Amino acid sequence: MKKNWWKNTVVYELYLQSFYDSNNDGIGDIEGAIEKLDYLKNLGVGAIWLTPIYDSPLIDNGYDVADYQNINPIYGDIEKFKEFIQKAKNIDIKIIMDMVVNHTSDQHHWFKESRKSRNNPYRNYYIWRDKPDNTSSIFGGSAWTFDDSTNQYYFHQFAKEQPDLNWENPIVRKEIAVMIKWWCELGVMGFRFDVIDLIGKEVDNKIFANGPKLHQYIKELRKNSWASDIFLTVGECWGATIEDAIMYSSPNAEEFSMVFQFEHITQLQDQISKYKPKAVDFVKLKKIYKKWQQGLHGRGWNSLFLGNHDLPRMVSKYGNDSKYRKQSSKTLFTTLFLMQGTPYIFQGDEIGMTNLNWKNISDYKDVEIKNTYTDLVSKQNKLTHDEFILGILQNGRDHARTPFQWNQQINGGFSKSIPWIPINNNYSTINADEDLKDPNGIYNFLQKLIKFRNNSEYSEIIEKGIYVPFLVEDPNLFIYARANKHTVIKIIANWSEETIDITALKVSGLKILLNTETSFENNKLRPWQTVVLREDRF
Ligand code: GLC
Ligand code: CA
Repeated sequence: MKKNWWKNTVVYELYLQSFYDSNNDGIGDIEGAIEKLDYLKNLGVGAIWLTPIYDSPLIDNGYDVADYQNINPIYGDIEKFKEFIQKAKNIDIKIIMDMVVNHTSDQHHWFKESRKSRNNPYRNYYIWRDKPDNTSSIFGGSAWTFDDSTNQYYFHQFAKEQPDLNWENPIVRKEIAVMIKWWCELGVMGFRFDVIDLIGKEVDNKIFANGPKLHQYIKELRKNSWASDIFLTVGECWGATIEDAIMYSSPNAEEFSMVFQFEHITQLQDQISKYKPKAVDFVKLKKIYKKWQQGLHGRGWNSLFLGNHDLPRMVSKYGNDSKYRKQSSKTLFTTLFLMQGTPYIFQGDEIGMTNLNWKNISDYKDVEIKNTYTDLVSKQNKLTHDEFILGILQNGRDHARTPFQWNQQINGGFSKSIPWIPINNNYSTINADEDLKDPNGIYNFLQKLIKFRNNSEYSEIIEKGIYVPFLVEDPNLFIYARANKHTVIKIIANWSEETIDITALKVSGLKILLNTETSFENNKLRPWQTVVLREDRF
């Protein structure tokens, strides 16, 4: 197996329970994913990041694991999963597991034991104290929950059903490493590590992210489990700075292949909460990309994404999800995927799925939405009800989690039964059937874009070239060049609803390598149009 194959691969985030339901119980499953493998292969996907499929009470949609070595029966079983790995492998697609090891479910047998008595052998797998402090949970409320069977409080950074593991305990670290190794031996080719920057926490010192032993723990984990660059490993690190990302992903770090950093998300959000509505600051976004593209060049590796299962739909957040839905989706993908790093597609973005328009809190399923509402609106009066609803419409996590819209049939062809979460009611116009039929659709374009990126004479420049931004203060255009000694390619993207004359950029006569539309005339970019050009000079 080639090392570092993930530098030249597009990863698809597959949110299994909403992808395809093969047995019509309303929940997507592994067999469903198997049946759709060709759809992903045709798109050009090289790896699938599968969101958690472990046994779980699903308080946080599987990010609350009750058994790391068993598959939730609603999705299938280990045999089915092996079949999935094999069938994906046959068409050269690798499977990446989601590893949730900062915390478990309160239904994990370690926790069930741990809470039984203060001297239970598993007591020290979790974090127990006599008195809580004022630390809040990321999902709202206190981070400490009282357990009356032993009269102590346990610590949880997420829901109270997600107790944090105690990584200071070497036995916990060993258990996790052994378990990860077991998955490697089963044939998975990598891991996405959930909120991994929290494992080095020192709760008594109020240190949560980026604790002093964080990197030591990761190095140790790598050594004792996957231990090689033939695995794609990506850490979810909400607080990562450039310096942190280098520590994790520099060529000799012996930690991860890359991290998901979130500056392009968090720095555009309101300080109080992501549920306080705020418009996207486009110029700031470009500056953040400049910083990361240049900052990690040669020193680490970027992951490139605008959407995932915790974020709103890409086209609704950054593009125009009504009049220019397809145009803007294509432009967002092109702008992002020709940067340096490994690109990720979140399921449904390749056909331009959009945010929901649900207006009531009770319509939503997400534990974060519900708990944060109680905190910020009901208890603390930090946001009004109306503000919060607008905030959900912008940034809620359920937008990304509704069933995949395959076709016009009932429930968008996702299932013949009522889906576990309602489908977006625009499925009769926005669906894969419709988009694939359209030669100017998103999927067909993305296919070309991925070929251009991974399998063309420009692949090397996209993988290794330097990043040179232009007109960073411009309110409408996103422009950058990628260059090596011999070649320069320039990406000129119109992120606006205006037609823009780019004569001043002296592009006449340059070879057009990619175009999100069918033509490019008179030096004018149409609304949300992008062209990629070949230059031999800056
Ligand atoms: C990560 C996951 C998110 C989950 C949280 C707690 O941020 O992506 O979905 O709720 O961790 O596990
Ligand atoms: Ca099913």
